[in-house]
Amino acid sequence: MLLCLLEMDFLLLEIKAHPVRSSRGNAKDPIFGLKMGAESQSSDDVFRWFCVEAGNSSNPRIILIHGFPSQAYSFRKVLPVLSEDYHAVAFDWLGFGFSDKPQPKYGFDYTLDEYVSALESLVEKLAVDKFSLVVQGYFAPIVMKYASHHQEKLRNLILVNPPMTDKHAKLPSTLSIFSNFLLGEIFSQDPLRASDKTLTSSGPYMMKEEDAMVYRRPYLTSGSSGFALNAISRAMKKDLRNYIEEMKKVLISEAWTIPTTVCWGMRDRWLSYDGVADFCKISNSKLVELQMAGHHVQEDYGEELANIISQTVSKGK
Ligand SMILES: *[C@@H]1O[C@H](CO)[C@@H](O)[C@H](O)[C@H]1NC(C)=O
Repeated sequence: MLLCLLEMDFLLLEIKAHPVRSSRGNAKDPIFGLKMGAESQSSDDVFRWFCVEAGNSSNPRIILIHGFPSQAYSFRKVLPVLSEDYHAVAFDWLGFGFSDKPQPKYGFDYTLDEYVSALESLVEKLAVDKFSLVVQGYFAPIVMKYASHHQEKLRNLILVNPPMTDKHAKLPSTLSIFSNFLLGEIFSQDPLRASDKTLTSSGPYMMKEEDAMVYRRPYLTSGSSGFALNAISRAMKKDLRNYIEEMKKVLISEAWTIPTTVCWGMRDRWLSYDGVADFCKISNSKLVELQMAGHHVQEDYGEELANIISQTVSKGK
């Protein structure tokens, strides 16, 4: 399953996601009240993040951040290219892939604010020196909030198909369905809906079965992946619009000094290209169009994206 990642190192980092308000004991399965499997969470306030790294750690560091819903696995073709000149690190967000999937309300509630502070804790462990950030899709506004508070740590920012116009503020129905009462809970437990359909509906994708299987695995092995999906979908429904507004304000403001590039897969079926070029002009961001790529650019044009990242970051050195 992880054959193509063999050249890379895996880390399982235990990190306090954010200050825990109160101890509520061990998380329980929200339907039957049973104790959750070890997969879901190791303790009440410390979370295991699955990280993968490639390249010499004395090289400039690049952190690669996947979108919603995806996994670090999506960067499998990007990491080897970057590893030649950089130290590249990708991780699974809490609730995704091989990272912990705490039950909502037990130390982590999947709000966008909590993701921002969780990212702060993670980056503190991952990066000592300055680094460049690459983030794709719906996690971009969350990462942008982190970035706006930590400009002193950043060299470059590369946004890959981020939601960045008013039209992008509403989740596509394939994702918003997971926030529905009952129906959302049922759909999120179906690996074909939770994983395959969400990945293939966002672009011109024909995924290989062996890759689809990696993405499907968390949903096959534990119900907590689906519960996390429900919680994230609800949080995005509530706060995505505000986060996009904030992101735009930061990018336009004089105070934002980090060289910023927007890479856009033109065959994205979720986020319309309308208004993207205009906003890049206003915000002084460099725009790179990828004609054949969809929403998950790193999935279908991994090597091309890696070359763009590599050139962008080396210019900023
Ligand atoms: C990493 O780079 C440093 C400095 O260039 C070098 O001394 C070291 O041998 C390299 N490590 C590996 C494992 O290649």
